[in-house]
Amino acid sequence: MIAKGFQPKTPLYKKKMPKEYIASPLKITADIEGLSLKSISEHYKLYEGYVKKVKEIREKIDAADKSAPNATYSELGELKRQETFAVNGAKLHEVFFKSLGPTSQELRGASGKVADMIIRDFGSMENWVSDMTAAGLSSRGWVIAAYDLNEERIRNYSADAHNLGVVYGCIPLVALDVYEHAYFMDHGTSRKAYIEAFFKNLNWKAVDENLILSGR
Ligand SMILES: [Fe+2]
Repeated sequence: MIAKGFQPKTPLYKKKMPKEYIASPLKITADIEGLSLKSISEHYKLYEGYVKKVKEIREKIDAADKSAPNATYSELGELKRQETFAVNGAKLHEVFFKSLGPTSQELRGASGKVADMIIRDFGSMENWVSDMTAAGLSSRGWVIAAYDLNEERIRNYSADAHNLGVVYGCIPLVALDVYEHAYFMDHGTSRKAYIEAFFKNLNWKAVDENLILSGR
């Protein structure tokens, strides 16, 4: 169910078919506070890999034998299972890289529509960061601050894998990647130091752009 008040400018059925899914370019070109360009660039390659797999899996789904479907094992069943892993892997990394620096002085610190909503829904920015951090230290994959279209508020959800813990009817606003590949190169086992660096480099303008998708 879409919450009342959500009115897309162009009716969805009138929109053109989406273009082929391609990775958004990496906009970071130098080290940022607490995260090296080397680490970010290697991480970005994983994102590109997910996008490529989305295309490959979907081509194989189109060509798969659909005459013998089976939930225990079938070519189609396995492809459909891996499709959600690859698609969510691509989408969550897209949100992650979009909102990760480079930040100008004006963008540093929390400001904007999402920041206002966070303060409304969590009491303060500090409460929200504290909740995200604790969830990030408890999760095996992601913590996603999402606008829930049904509840009409922001919730922090954790996911132990790209396609585990998905809550539907939600727009991801901030995606905190806590897989080891996101921080081991720069911080070793100190995930907390990485999470602190992540929040220092959060681009609130980009976060606000994600909210547009919710129609809010
Ligand atoms: Fe990642």
